[in-house]
Amino acid sequence: MSWFGNLHLRTKFNLIMSLLLVCLFLTAAFLTYRKQQQLILRFAEDNARNLARQIIETRDYMAGAVRGEAEHNYDLVPQVVATRVAKRITAGSPYYVRQVSLRYRNPDNRPDSYETARLENFSKKGPAEISSLETIDGKQTFRYLQPMVAVESCLACHGDYDKAPAFVRARFPRGHYSYNYKVGEVIGAVSVSIPMADLYRQIGTNLKQDLLYRGVIFCIIILVMGWILRRSIIDPVKQLAVSISRVTRTGSYAERLPRFTNDEIGTLIGSFNDLMQELEQKNQQSSEANARYRSFIDMVPSAVVTCLQDGRIIVTNRRAEKLFGFSRKDLLGKSIFDFITGEAARSELFATCMKDGRIRMVTESSIQTVRGLRGSLTKMEIAISASEGDQQPLFTVILREILAAY
Ligand code: HEC
Repeated sequence: MSWFGNLHLRTKFNLIMSLLLVCLFLTAAFLTYRKQQQLILRFAEDNARNLARQIIETRDYMAGAVRGEAEHNYDLVPQVVATRVAKRITAGSPYYVRQVSLRYRNPDNRPDSYETARLENFSKKGPAEISSLETIDGKQTFRYLQPMVAVESCLACHGDYDKAPAFVRARFPRGHYSYNYKVGEVIGAVSVSIPMADLYRQIGTNLKQDLLYRGVIFCIIILVMGWILRRSIIDPVKQLAVSISRVTRTGSYAERLPRFTNDEIGTLIGSFNDLMQELEQKNQQSSEANARYRSFIDMVPSAVVTCLQDGRIIVTNRRAEKLFGFSRKDLLGKSIFDFITGEAARSELFATCMKDGRIRMVTESSIQTVRGLRGSLTKMEIAISASEGDQQPLFTVILREILAAY
């Protein structure tokens, strides 16, 4: 039997259940994690898009509205206004917003490597928002980029150098790469980045807690199922096994088990009780038959003993006890060959009843010398009949005194 076959039913059940539940738990945890991450990413993307739109709209509005005010107040430059507004909107949130350009005027707006690669792509493949999960300094970060395209109003300061306002020309001399944009050209992008850890915190998702709850629920399931299994199957089967071994040990068929259910286990217990009742009845019938047989052979005027093949006496009658001079108790277990003398008698006594290992009916009797009470030797007529016993043949020997008339 394999090691698994040697385990207790309960251990087996717990093992299989735990294995199944762990698989289920891991799959569920994985799916939950995936789903939550998808949700979080969608949430982050929506927020980033809204932020970018607000900033772009602010800049577009400012670019259309300013009429030389920036000349005196640099804070009214569309880019500067948009940057300040973005700062105010995102204050206290995990969102980090920048407006970057490959051809930047302000070194603060220099794109990082991620942004540079995407901006170059915008110029090649056309502008379209993009987002992705990146690992930055070992931390998962959500990145989002919304390209900004130059419109007519932008060209006042980003178009021809000669047409730009004096304060712009003063700061960014002729030949600076921040001029000469055309309408429709990508001028830069709003870049939003959010650390994932902050995002999880922000939408109030605690994956660890979620997994803990599930783990607790699974443990409860295992315990409850184990309890049900023990109550409904293991305990009754155990009780049945104990009863059966007691019956084998004591030979008493009085054993009965209480039946509480009508399921398979209930049926099993019912069958056991029926079997016990049947055996008890049979046992009683056979002891009655035995008693009848005994009182019958006690009445027979000859000595009658039943022996096993090796001669051991297992049944006697009163006449035999008297003949051999032993009480029933002492006679049982003695060999019939102690009383029938002569080597020939010994080897041939039962042989006449057997042929090729099978029982044969014998009708004739033989005359043998029998050692009786206090060693007296008497010639007696002996008839033997063989019968099929439990495991070996039984021989019933009838010893009759030879009457004078013979
Ligand atoms: C009134 C002049 C003016 C107008 C109009 C204007 N810009 Fe600018 N832009 C500037 C100046 C000046 C800066 C540098 C700001 C700074 O120093 O931070 C700038 C910076 C930028 C930047 C940041 C990158 C960098 O160069 O530092 C972007 C992107 C940008 N502008 C896009 C636009 C777009 C798009 C429009 C049209 C919707 C626009 N600008 C209209 C003057 C202008």
